[in-house]
Amino acid sequence: MTRIGFIGVGEIASAMVEGLADSGAKPDLQLFLSPRNAERAAKLADSIESATVCRSNQDVIDRSDLIVLAVLPQQTDAVLSDLDIPAEKTLVSAVAGVSTTTLGNHLPHSPTIVRVIPLPAVREHKGVTAVYPANDAVEGLLSHLGGSVTAADETMFSTLSAVTATMSAHFAFLQTITAWLVDRGWDQADADHFIRGQFVGLGTTLAQTDEPIDNLVAAHETPGGLNEMLNSEWMNEANRNYLASALDAVFDRVTRSD
Ligand SMILES: NC(=O)c1ccc[n+]([C@@H]2O[C@H](COP(=O)([O-])OP(=O)(O)OC[C@H]3O[C@@H](n4cnc5c(N)ncnc54)[C@H](OP(=O)(O)O)[C@@H]3O)[C@@H](O)[C@H]2O)c1
Repeated sequence: MTRIGFIGVGEIASAMVEGLADSGAKPDLQLFLSPRNAERAAKLADSIESATVCRSNQDVIDRSDLIVLAVLPQQTDAVLSDLDIPAEKTLVSAVAGVSTTTLGNHLPHSPTIVRVIPLPAVREHKGVTAVYPANDAVEGLLSHLGGSVTAADETMFSTLSAVTATMSAHFAFLQTITAWLVDRGWDQADADHFIRGQFVGLGTTLAQTDEPIDNLVAAHETPGGLNEMLNSEWMNEANRNYLASALDAVFDRVTRSD
């Protein structure tokens, strides 16, 4: 039986709990939830047979082998300083921008520490989670939630953290396209409807093929055609470099807070 605890039962922990409870790992799982968010934890425990709300955060630790820490970065010091995590346990930290060294400073018994970056799509078993360092038990668990990519060192892990900052810009790209349609006279709702239909198909392509992303670009444009024209005019060298600089700046911020 794999016993997994959750300290911090907010957005991302709930996605992991729901994803695991509905996955191939289900028969072999027991899930232990912090009581801090009583309503949310109770709702999860009511709908998931293998989930139990514990008496305290320490009770979560005592009953679990892997403990997922999913509190906000600024809450981490206070949460860990109240807890006693024995050497044989594994702390799986989803906390953004808090390094293994900083986490280790709060853990006098030196349990195993693994950092992860789960994304909400783990709820549908489609989130690919960043991991550092390699850990068979954690990677095995994540294989039920969409898989994982393991960084060779913590700096490489931070590059994956940086690219998770591109999600709202992805929607801002779509927002800018719909704004152009609205400028040309379309209702916002019709513009949104049309663009949603166009991009949902691309999401499906990403989900359903292992085709390299480079190939997907070529597969969606005809030489001399309209897609190639827009791509080369918009994603020109200057804009690609600008995006790379913005990623460098996010990476610097992520690693500065380490
Ligand atoms: N959401 C994402 O997509 C995502 C993705 C990757 C990584 N992360 C990281 O995961 C962490 C959690 O993010 P989130 O979006 O899930 O945040 P969230 O919804 O705010 O959840 C954090 C939870 O921690 C609880 N908490 C605070 N102090 C606690 C304590 N002493 N004991 C137990 N629980 C406590 C909070 O309860 P209260 O509300 O009562 O304070 C809240 O429910 C963050 O560090 C974030 O950077 C999030």
